[in-house]
Amino acid sequence: MTNRKGIILAGGSGTRLYPITIGVSKQLLPIYDKPMIYYPLTVLMLAGIREICVITTPHDQDQFKRTLGDGSQWGIELTYITQPSPDGLAQAYLLAEDFLDGAPSAMVLGDNIFFGHGLPEMLEQAGRQTGGGTVFGYHVADPERYGVVAFDSAGNVTEIVEKPPVPPSNYAVTGLYFLDGSAPQRAREVKPSDRGELEITTLLESYLHDGLLSVKRMGRGYAWLDTGTHASLLDAGNFVRTLTERQGQQVGSPDEIAFQMGWITKEALLDRAKVFAKNGYGAYLEALAMGRG
Ligand code: TTP
Repeated sequence: MTNRKGIILAGGSGTRLYPITIGVSKQLLPIYDKPMIYYPLTVLMLAGIREICVITTPHDQDQFKRTLGDGSQWGIELTYITQPSPDGLAQAYLLAEDFLDGAPSAMVLGDNIFFGHGLPEMLEQAGRQTGGGTVFGYHVADPERYGVVAFDSAGNVTEIVEKPPVPPSNYAVTGLYFLDGSAPQRAREVKPSDRGELEITTLLESYLHDGLLSVKRMGRGYAWLDTGTHASLLDAGNFVRTLTERQGQQVGSPDEIAFQMGWITKEALLDRAKVFAKNGYGAYLEALAMGRG
């Protein structure tokens, strides 16, 4: 049982997805058969984390509460915090300081989707690390859109650069950050960047500077999908559909993970199945509960 707490950062303005996101939060849009936020939520659950805060804009909070509830249906505890304006990813640690109460954390961006064999073990390993931080580097074709990792000739991380015009490598830092209890204190030292945001890369630099940052390479067997543009949103939906239909297994089901983790009983899972009686998800959950999954 971990004392690590989770943060899902699901605010932002989603301007690249306009006009869709004028009226609805990006993180509530469907990725095939589930709201986007189910995917990052299940990443935290797979890491064994049961106390999770969801950071949203003030005007979207009610919809998130309706979508996710208090978490008890999955044996977890959800707390809601608002971010008055999208002032950057590192601000999450200031907003969540009281919630964290000194505990180490795993923060995931509400629009990031991870999939791959061995993911639970990788998450568990990162979660076990005490002190310092762990982030994941993923090889992408367009690193200039992300925070990019620079390595020296021995393969050690020397720098993380935010959206560099000339990227020092193809390794982007994914939106999943395991940081120790000093993150809020370090976030207080972060000054707004030229674009007026409290940058996560500046916070990570603080760990790197102290020799406390581990960057794990997430190999090509993993999928790390971004959903921030119209095309990538559709691609992510198609990816999930392809896997789900081919395997007959769910991607990003908090109900399934809660049951497998032993956080909810068979009866509770059957109750959940009834909520979805009119679609295949209900039948899937019922089969799981009856040991036919
Ligand atoms: P981005 O994709 O960088 O920003 P955005 O979601 O506002 O979209 P756009 O660029 O199209 O305007 O954000 C990455 C994730 O972080 C996303 O899930 C939203 C979240 N986020 C916050 O919750 N608060 C913030 O201050 C920022 C910058 C992002």
